[in-house]
Amino acid sequence: MENNLGNIMVIGACGQIGSELTTALRERYDEVKVIAADKCAPGGQDLFENGTYSSLNVLDRGGLKEEVEGHDIDTIFNLAAILSAKGEKNPQLAFEVNTVGAYNTLEIGRKLGVDKIIMPSSIAVFGPEVPKDDTPDEVYLKPRSMYGVTKVAGELLGYYYWDKYDLDVRELRLPGVISHKTLPGGGTTDYAVESFYSALTDGHYDFFVREDTRLPMMYMPDCVKSLIQLAEADPGSLHGRTNYNVGSMSFTAGELAREIGRHIDEFSYDFSPDYRQELADSWPNSVDDRSARTEWGWQPEYDLEKMVRDMLVNLERKLGDDVSVELNTQLA
Ligand code: SER
Repeated sequence: MENNLGNIMVIGACGQIGSELTTALRERYDEVKVIAADKCAPGGQDLFENGTYSSLNVLDRGGLKEEVEGHDIDTIFNLAAILSAKGEKNPQLAFEVNTVGAYNTLEIGRKLGVDKIIMPSSIAVFGPEVPKDDTPDEVYLKPRSMYGVTKVAGELLGYYYWDKYDLDVRELRLPGVISHKTLPGGGTTDYAVESFYSALTDGHYDFFVREDTRLPMMYMPDCVKSLIQLAEADPGSLHGRTNYNVGSMSFTAGELAREIGRHIDEFSYDFSPDYRQELADSWPNSVDDRSARTEWGWQPEYDLEKMVRDMLVNLERKLGDDVSVELNTQLA
């Protein structure tokens, strides 16, 4: 397909989203133009075998500049982040990686005249004051987690660089992202991924949130699609710029458990809320994403039922002999 993004760099390419976005971009465009950048050690992963890999820490501004300049990068996706739960364990690190990392990316973009920067924000920007259902894009933002604070800062910084320096920055607020390739790295919504692994390997999962905890979620193919769609969108139609809600599905932990249980009879589960419950309680149940739908054509494909089937099919294949339960339906 014709590439309107030029040479691309994905920072945080080894992470949950980065690993799948990099592959999707390489499939969609000319492989050699998508540089996977991260600080993880190269070895074994298809990311390193199927294209160029840059060893890079987003906090090293000099190194980042060299790599962006050296590869003549036009578009940067900055996915390097410390998520909410890990961020509460180490707020200082979360500030550095998320806020200083975003600042470094924007500064390098400005100095080198990069065409576009795409950075995910999160539902963690919201605090408990806002409407819980169909939370609008434009509301009072008072997050309670350091992750949320850094994401609000990232949105505002992005808007500033667009407004003042004409840098084409685009950001969208991702919900909890569910996937089977790479594990998420310390988010509050990780229970939605862990429950599948445990259901298949142990037949049991202890959710770390209450049964009635409802959060916005999204399946990885939709997540990758949203990032690429936003990146490719006509800049003239982007009025929201750096604060697009992107909705997909919304379910409680109990609803997820029961949907998995429809396919695995012996699946049992408990709910033992821990410190992450407070973070989950401060976030919306669902978001109003009309701006994303009208301004750049956002349209998710997966609902709970379809996502659960796809996750089980793929994880059963991936986990192989580690699967200890019978799946009671023909999933494929
Ligand atoms: N998945 C993120 C987290 O739980 C929310 O965007 O931290």
